[in-house]
Amino acid sequence: MKEKIANLMAEINALAINSADEAENLRIKYLSKKGIITALFNDFREVPNEQKREIGQLLNQLRTVATDKIMSAKENFATVNSVDNSLDYTRSSDPIALGTRHPLSIVKNEIIDIFSRIGFTVAEGPEVEDDWHVFGALNFPPEHPARDMQDTFFVTRNPDVLLRTHTSSVQSRVMTSQEPPIRVLCPGRVYRNEAISARAHCFFHQVEGLYVDKNVSFADLKQALLYFAKEMFGEDTKIRLRPSYFPFTEPSAEMDISCNLCGGKGCSFCKHTGWVEILGCGMVDPNVLEACGIDSKVYTGYAFGMGVERITNLKYQVKDLRMFSENDVRFLQQFESAY
Ligand code: PHE
Repeated sequence: MKEKIANLMAEINALAINSADEAENLRIKYLSKKGIITALFNDFREVPNEQKREIGQLLNQLRTVATDKIMSAKENFATVNSVDNSLDYTRSSDPIALGTRHPLSIVKNEIIDIFSRIGFTVAEGPEVEDDWHVFGALNFPPEHPARDMQDTFFVTRNPDVLLRTHTSSVQSRVMTSQEPPIRVLCPGRVYRNEAISARAHCFFHQVEGLYVDKNVSFADLKQALLYFAKEMFGEDTKIRLRPSYFPFTEPSAEMDISCNLCGGKGCSFCKHTGWVEILGCGMVDPNVLEACGIDSKVYTGYAFGMGVERITNLKYQVKDLRMFSENDVRFLQQFESAY
């Protein structure tokens, strides 16, 4: 028995295995139920008791060596055969589609880019606000309709916790925390209690701007806005300012640009007027400066605010506002841009 084991050990050590099939045949030959080594374990029962210990150890050793050699060869050949080195296994199986930026983000970034070229930086603030930053500091009388339940979403029963209806609230925050000169853009989402339709939504996006310094004039405002309109809609774009009213600016104006679809000749988009309104603006009311701790005898300022959806509609002729928030990839995939 001892000799048999020794011979087999030598035989197994000398084996050269060249394929998975060979390994499988050897497994059957030595280790299967009817294999040579398995048969030795059956013979082991007849070994005299005093030799059992020694022979048992040798037998176990033989089985371990044979199993290791044959099974590891089998595994190695199996993996080698299935790996085709001409393929890149780190690549994902599905092509990864590159995303596109949301059209509102593209346009918002473009607006920021244009104004940053004339010295504006970005300021942001919370969407859940208090009455003072949204209305109080901005010269809204207590009974002003914009504070009404019909326009403003209140977050709690406490009327002091509300969703901002414009990003002018960020301007209040900047003016109370920074000394002039101030030149900021306030982009962000705003909320108004409106019925959702193709032309109105209960949330939308604004970019507002504020410039406060010594000797800021209406001419500065007009020049900055003309620069913006030309950069955004093209060199031939004309602007027109119409008198308007906002509680926080005096004088106030609304700005139209020459219709960029018909070039000002008149079309259904501009209702045959040749002009489309794009923003509100004006000189910061001295009451607002004073409420925010800025000396209105020393400083003046201008402010403007525009809806990003409106500008995006003009650039891309999106007819239905709801498209912006429906996340339909067929719509979103049409927008590829550097911004
Ligand atoms: N806050 C105004 C709005 O939401 C826009 C505006 C900003 C008008 C600054 C004038 C000056 O409609």
